Amino acid sequence: MARLLSASRAASIVGVPRGIIQKHIQTGELTSFEGKVKLSQLVKLYPDSEIEKDEIFERIEEFIANALKRARYAKFQKLITPDTATLASRLANLSKELAETQIALHQNEQLLAKLHDYIIEQSNKNNDSAAVYKSLGEWLNKTGKNITTNTPKIKPLIQKDDFLRIMAAQVHIIPSGLEYFVEGKSSILEAGLTTGSALNYGCSNGNCGKCKAKLISGKIEKIKQHEYVFPEAEKAQNYFLMCSNTAVTDIEIEADIAGSEKDIPQQSLSTKVKKIEPISKYVSVLTLKTQRTKRLRFLAGQEVELKLRDNIVTTLPIASCPCDESFIQFHIENNSSPFSHYLNNKLKTGDTVNVNGPSGHFVLDKDSTKPIIFIAVDTGFAPVKSLIENALSLEAAEYIHFYWINTQAEKPYLHNICRAWNDALDNFKYTAINVAHLSHNEIPSQDIFSACLSNLIKDHVDLANVDIYSAIPESLTEFANTFFMAQGLDAEQVHFTHN
Ligand code: FES
Repeated sequence: MARLLSASRAASIVGVPRGIIQKHIQTGELTSFEGKVKLSQLVKLYPDSEIEKDEIFERIEEFIANALKRARYAKFQKLITPDTATLASRLANLSKELAETQIALHQNEQLLAKLHDYIIEQSNKNNDSAAVYKSLGEWLNKTGKNITTNTPKIKPLIQKDDFLRIMAAQVHIIPSGLEYFVEGKSSILEAGLTTGSALNYGCSNGNCGKCKAKLISGKIEKIKQHEYVFPEAEKAQNYFLMCSNTAVTDIEIEADIAGSEKDIPQQSLSTKVKKIEPISKYVSVLTLKTQRTKRLRFLAGQEVELKLRDNIVTTLPIASCPCDESFIQFHIENNSSPFSHYLNNKLKTGDTVNVNGPSGHFVLDKDSTKPIIFIAVDTGFAPVKSLIENALSLEAAEYIHFYWINTQAEKPYLHNICRAWNDALDNFKYTAINVAHLSHNEIPSQDIFSACLSNLIKDHVDLANVDIYSAIPESLTEFANTFFMAQGLDAEQVHFTHN
């Protein structure tokens, strides 16, 4: 029986992003069977994935770490080992599959042997059909040898797949089609949030019931007791809490995911200052930490209100990805505002900052997988960084090009992060555009901005097939919108926020 793999699993095994596997399916290089691909076809497409038998176990851990790292951005530097009970369950499951495969193999071998004997018997008879049976026997022998010669190519990939299935269970969510892996002892909710997906949840603690999901197939295990009580009807339909269970085997579940910013509730959280970094002469980076069980739910690109002591309040875009667990980052311009003054002179690590929100519509179009162009002017990078990290984490776009228009005399303040993305990721390009002849806080003129956009047009001849996200000064928004419409873009392809 052909071994079928999900797109995520296939991507992890051969070490490419999931989008590449999906592209092979679209182009017909891989045939999809209800979203899964054949291992034998994968081997033909990636013949170099073969590893010599005696090397495989020495290299497999490194391989998987690299594959996961590439497939899911840089979050998974090393594979986290599951606990003993989960390992035992996964091994028991694989052993059952192995036993079933061995029985099926034995039955097929018997059938083949009987067929072979029958063909020989018929070919030895003295009648008109003997020649046909003789040629059939020869074909059977030749084809059998060919199959034996080609089989070793599949073997290393089967071993990798089995190893991955022991180390990490895969979650497939319907109807969204979201896929991710659960490692170590993580709950299904935690692992999902780490990918940056907007799963529905509330307390993270088994009380509110908002993370309920329906188990369609596979095996889960409770990792913490919960107070939420399911009605009998839901119990009978295999409903469970994602925050209180882990996946023992690959699972398919039905669960809600925020479709838009309207699905994200308003929240008020008390956070602590984790770090204040004066990252350049003009910008400071503030990192806040929420309680582990009370994280902020938001979509990448949204903003929140920050309230300091002395009643100092400001609204800032979040610069981090929802996948950043309990950390929220902000980029603050050093200027004469009360917030900037308090940040640079009074605020210290461990202080409380109240956060209210989120708000804003500058979020990724979840239904689009088009290449994305991001444009930021100076600290417009904050919401763009959140979107880029989220898009990379979710593999939401096949290609990303980020243009950072910098009006300061020095390099863009997080230039090195963008360079690192550019160097590490095949599908990411970074272009810094310096217009440093402006004075501090001066907004680029329409002429300067127009020259920047003209460069962009030269890089991307086919703008009909891209989404554009711009975080630019408000005074340039209308100009930019008119510019893009004149290039023939549709309004829904262009998204703006201003800084
Ligand atoms: S998030 Fe509240 S019960 Fe799971």
